[in-house]
Amino acid sequence: MASWLPDTSTSLYGIIGHPVSHSLSPAMHNAAFRASGTNAIYLAFDVTYLKGAISGVKALGLKGLSVTIPHKEAIIPLLDEIDPVAGRIGAVNTVINKGERLAGANTDWIGATKALEETIELAGKKALVIGAGGSARAICVGLADKGVKVHIANRTPEKARRIAEICDATWSGLEGWEDIDASILINTTPVGMAPNDKELPVPANILPRFECVMDIVYSPLETALLREAAKAGCRTINGLRMLLLQAVAQFELWTWQPAPVAAMEKALRGTRT
Ligand code: ATR
Repeated sequence: MASWLPDTSTSLYGIIGHPVSHSLSPAMHNAAFRASGTNAIYLAFDVTYLKGAISGVKALGLKGLSVTIPHKEAIIPLLDEIDPVAGRIGAVNTVINKGERLAGANTDWIGATKALEETIELAGKKALVIGAGGSARAICVGLADKGVKVHIANRTPEKARRIAEICDATWSGLEGWEDIDASILINTTPVGMAPNDKELPVPANILPRFECVMDIVYSPLETALLREAAKAGCRTINGLRMLLLQAVAQFELWTWQPAPVAAMEKALRGTRT
C-alpha cells in the first residue's frame, strides 16, 4: 500500500475520555479512513477538562469525536443539538461537527441492535438484560424501539427500575430467574471479564431457554457465558461485534459513506493479537 502522510487538508477526528490509552477505536477508525481513501486521521485524547476540550473541537475544527467514560453524560449540555434517542438514553458517544454546530448522537444502541439483528429477528421478542449501567441503558432503549419487551435484572434493583422507566421495561434484582420469560439474554455487566473469566452473570441452568445470548465483555472473546450458552444450543454474539458495529455507525455519521466494515474488523482483531 502507498504510504500516507497527513497534509493541510487532512481532517482530524478523535476519542475523548479518561483514561483512553486502551481504546480500540483509533485502530478501527484509522483503518476505515485508509481503506476508504479518506484524507483523515483519528487520535486519542485523554481529557479531564471537558469544557475546554469542546471549545478546542470548535476552534480547531475537528470533524468528529467518539466520547467515552467518564464524559458520555457530562458532554450533553456542552453540545448544540442532541439526537432524540441519545437524549432518551441520556448519553452521547458520538459528536458530529456540522460547521457552526456540534451535534451529539449515540451509536451504542445501534451497534447492539445491529449485532442482534444479524443473528435473529427482534420484533415481538422478549429480552432479559443483566446489569443497569450506561451500556444497559443504551441497549434497553434500542431494544424497546425495535419492539422488544425488555426485563432488566441488576444487583442494585433501583438502578434497573430507573432504566425500566424510560423504556417501558420490567425489572428485578438478580433472582427469580424461573419467572422471567425471554428468548434473548444480554450481559452488560463486567462479570466474566478476565481475570475472573470463569464467572457467569446468570445460573448456567437457565441458558437452554434462550434463542440467542449476547455478551458485551470481549476479553476473553469467548466468555464463560458464551461457552455455556453455545453448549446449551443458543446462538451467541461476542462483545467485539457491538464494539465494531457502533464504530461503523460513527464512521457513517461522520462521512456519509458506507463504512469499510471488513477493514475495521481486521484492525479490531489485530489489536488483540
Ligand atoms: P457500563 O457503563 O459499561 O455499563 P457500569 O455503569 O459500571 O458500566 O455498569 C456496570 C453494571 O454491572 C452495573 O449495573 C453493576 O451493578 P450495580 O448497579 O449493582 O453496581 C453491574 N455489576 C458490576 N459488577 C457486578 C458483579 N460482580 N455482579 C453483578 N453485577 C455487577
